[in-house]
Amino acid sequence: MGWQMINHRGPEFQKILSDVTAKLKQVFQTKNDVLILTGSGTGGLEAAVVNTLSPGDKVLSVSIGVFGDRFANIAKEFGAEVVSLKVEWGRAADPDAIRQAIKANPDIKAVLVTHNETSTGVTNDLGAISKVVKEAGKLLLVDAISSMGSINLPVDKWQCDAVVTGSQKGWMVPPGLAMVGVSPEAWQAHAKAKMPRFYWDFTRAKSYLEKGQTPWTPAISVVFALSVALDMMLKEGLPKIVARHAKVGQVTRDGVKSLGLPLFAEESHASNTVTAIAAAGGLDIKKLRQIMKEEHQVVLSGGQQQLDGKIFRIGHLGWVTEKDIKEVMSALKAALPRAGFVATR
Ligand SMILES: Cc1ncc(COP(=O)(O)O)c(C=O)c1O
Repeated sequence: MGWQMINHRGPEFQKILSDVTAKLKQVFQTKNDVLILTGSGTGGLEAAVVNTLSPGDKVLSVSIGVFGDRFANIAKEFGAEVVSLKVEWGRAADPDAIRQAIKANPDIKAVLVTHNETSTGVTNDLGAISKVVKEAGKLLLVDAISSMGSINLPVDKWQCDAVVTGSQKGWMVPPGLAMVGVSPEAWQAHAKAKMPRFYWDFTRAKSYLEKGQTPWTPAISVVFALSVALDMMLKEGLPKIVARHAKVGQVTRDGVKSLGLPLFAEESHASNTVTAIAAAGGLDIKKLRQIMKEEHQVVLSGGQQQLDGKIFRIGHLGWVTEKDIKEVMSALKAALPRAGFVATR
């Protein structure tokens, strides 16, 4: 990140951008295009929507939390007619319910789904969801912001048409880049899609990528960092990365339970990148987070929207080790009684 700036329209950046794009495709497990956009993950979600849909298009939003709702709101804001399939927070979407919703709305064009819902710590069964969506011949737009590169997501096998991730998650680099996989079907939809777009336009991104450039000035330092991170990731190998996240996730869940705290998410679909823990036994979450930060230098996330004060979350994606999690657990053990928690089981 400390490297000197270079001309983003010169040969050095051209080489880095094409290397990084090729390596990203390996992690995405895709032969489709992968576009690197400068913006946060939400920008990538907006890009997926505006590049494949037209105002008035009917879409099915499968939402299991805050980020699923956000994806739907983006589509609504740009004029899509959104049919909502909302799932109780803490649970995963049922592929059969998605099948029924598509059957009841045969004219929907696309299904919007979150692979890993960071707000609740739940991972959807995207493989099964994809089968249902593809049997019906619909476009599959996926928020994989907090899963890609950490949880297995074979983009081509699961036929994801637009799949979005963000640099600050499993990629282990600072925020600033959204990476989007675009399938041939998504390109066909793009050719007819009429939603307004300029900055996020895939045609512009692709035509510049062919010259080894981006249409607008990119977050050059984050691309530098991503290039180093991708080398680390490919050296470790995707299966090992996925297994490491599964192990760290399990260590986190076991640790939380051994402290007498209940998990918020249904365990069969618990996320390997973030664990949500429900407040119980008189626990004051605000106080806990304050003690953990000030006395143990551990930053825990709270709950979002209606989960504020009801859950806290431990992030464990990217460069987080079992040792880190064990340190978090011993800090929690010391802090919990002082935050009002009395174990009841
Ligand atoms: C699943 C998911 N979707 C969307 C977002 C939004 O990404 P950003 O904050 O980078 O815009 C996040 C961020 O935490 C996320 O975890």
